Parts: sequence; C-alpha cells; structure tokens
Amino acid sequence: MTTDNTAARGAAPKNAPKDTPPTADRPVVELRGAGKSYGNIRALHGVDLAVHPGKVTCVLGDNGAGKSTLIKIISGLHQHTEGEFLVDGEPVRFTTPREALDRGIATVYQDLATVPLMPVWRNFFLGSEMTKGPWPFRRLDIARMKRTADEELRNMGIVLDDLEQPIGTLSGGQRQCVAIARAVYFGARVLILDEPTAALGVKQSGVVLKYIAAARDRGLGVIFITHNPHHAYMVGDHFSVLRLGTLELSAARDEVTLEELTNHMAGGAELAALKHELSQVRGVDVEELPDAEDLTASAAPAAAPSEGKS
Ligand SMILES: Nc1ncnc2c1ncn2[C@@H]1O[C@H](COP(=O)(O)OP(=O)(O)OP(=O)(O)O)[C@@H](O)[C@H]1O
Ligand SMILES: [Mg+2]
Repeated sequence: MTTDNTAARGAAPKNAPKDTPPTADRPVVELRGAGKSYGNIRALHGVDLAVHPGKVTCVLGDNGAGKSTLIKIISGLHQHTEGEFLVDGEPVRFTTPREALDRGIATVYQDLATVPLMPVWRNFFLGSEMTKGPWPFRRLDIARMKRTADEELRNMGIVLDDLEQPIGTLSGGQRQCVAIARAVYFGARVLILDEPTAALGVKQSGVVLKYIAAARDRGLGVIFITHNPHHAYMVGDHFSVLRLGTLELSAARDEVTLEELTNHMAGGAELAALKHELSQVRGVDVEELPDAEDLTASAAPAAAPSEGKS
C-alpha cells in the first residue's frame, strides 16, 4: 500500500499525525462554510467540501465560479476569510504552499512547473534531488534517480520509452501523468488537479483520467477541478458545482445522474434562453438541443441536493 511504501522511502509528510491514520469515513481535508474575499470582492462564500482517502471529489463550475480560489485556499496560496478549513479534523490556516505540502497536500497546476529541456527523470526529482557521498563531496545520485523514476512511473502504469528525453517533448497528457506519479511518490495524501484535461484531446484526457483513478486506488484523496461533467462523472465519487462563488450542488455519485450534472453545469435556464436566441439566428439548428421545458424542469431542483452533502 501507498503508506507503507512512502514510509519505507522516508518520504511521508512530515507533520502527518501518526496516531490518527486517515480512515475512509473521516475527511483528510474539509471546508466548513469556507469563503474568501479579495478586498470587497467575494470570490467564495459558505462552501462545504470533504475530501476522503481513496475518493475523487470533483469541483465543477463555469469561468469565475471560484474553483481556483477554492484550491488556492487548500494548497496554501491564499487564506480563507470566513468559515473553517480542517486537515485530519484539525483547523488549519496555511501561509505558504510548503505548509500544505508538509501535510501531504500536493497540487498539480495546469501550467506545470517543469523545466522543458531537462530529462523526464530530472524533472521527476526537481527540487528534491537524491544525493550520495558525504559533504563536501556530495553529488547527485543520477543512477538511483533514474531507476526510481522509472520504477515509480511503471508502478502507476506509465510507460515512457526513454526517461532521458526532455520533458518538453512529452505530450500535455503525459506531463500531467508524470506530475501525478511524482506527487504520489513524494507521499501526497491529497492530490489537487486544476483542470488537468482542459487543454487535452479525447484520447489524452482518457489517459489522465486513468491516472486519476490510479492515484485514487492508491488511497489518495483527489480533488479534480474541471469544466467537463463527462470527465468528472467518469472518475468522481462526489460532485460539487460552484456558481458565482457558492455551492449550487453537492451530491454523491448515487444522488446525481450525468444528465443532471450536465444541466447544472450548463445552467439549464440560461441554456433554454440561449436556445431561444439561437433559434432566431438563421443557419443554427436548435433541434439538436434539449427542449427549454426539459432544461428548466431539470434545473429547478438545483439547490435542493446541496443540503444532502456527505
Ligand atoms: N486575486 C484576486 N483579486 C480579486 N478578485 C479575484 C482574485 N482572484 C479571483 N478573483 C475573482 O474571484 C472570482 C472567482 O475566481 P476564480 O479564479 O476562483 O474562478 P474559477 O472558477 O477558477 O474560474 P476559471 O474557470 O476561469 O479558472 C472571479 O470573479 C474573480 O474575478
Ligand atoms: Mg480557475
């Protein structure tokens, strides 16, 4: 299991409480009525969110809904200005991303912090290089880093022909996968992925989704930020839809269908209005879109399930 492996490598998060191992029913990360204001702009308000080990929590929402603000709070880039943020049940307030990382919270940003011209194995260990020999003769342990990177990528089912190739030559999807494997190796308990599939095609998105599932199966709690309800539904255990900074929907997988999720994302009523407008434009075939009545009907119970959060 992951925890055993990371302990063996001595890479377990430094401040993780040892007497309180995470259990499937206690969230590793939790927000209770959390919010964030930038001056007098309220970007996020009253958000409840729970991240469990071995589960994928999807955070969906349109542009400006507050998704990035939410993950910035959890990853230690920004502090919440209302509500509570708990890690292993203990209220926290991180002032730097390093503090979040020390508690096992790793974030993979869309514009990955990699050095494109450096080999894959070198990027895998960037900032945490393995060394050998006593000071002042300490030097990089290249052989061990290459071997370990190769093993770890294979463990996650990621097969690359050549770890010497510059990471910049990998596809966007492959780079995301390397970043996921890296976070797993360095002992992450919670993995935050900010729109990892946004710039990817169908096939590459599928590959990234596969590694999200692999990280989940290794016991990590995953926060998957996406615009795409189809991607979310393929791997998600829980769905939180943000709208204008508040939770519009918070539902477990068995409480919501893909269709309902899609309607929440599309904003059923708005789409109905758009359909009406489009119908006035020549050459746009609106027959393919669902009926306005269907959309408004399925959008109506929108607020209701948000109480039924686990
Ligand atoms: N540093 C900031 N200062 C002021 N307002 C901000 C700041 N960061 C975000 N906001 C505002 O907060 C709201 C939520 O932004 P956020 O970036 O969290 O949205 P998002 O859901 O990530 O959007 P996108 O899908 O476009 O990435 C927006 O109205 C945005 O303008
Ligand atoms: Mg964003």
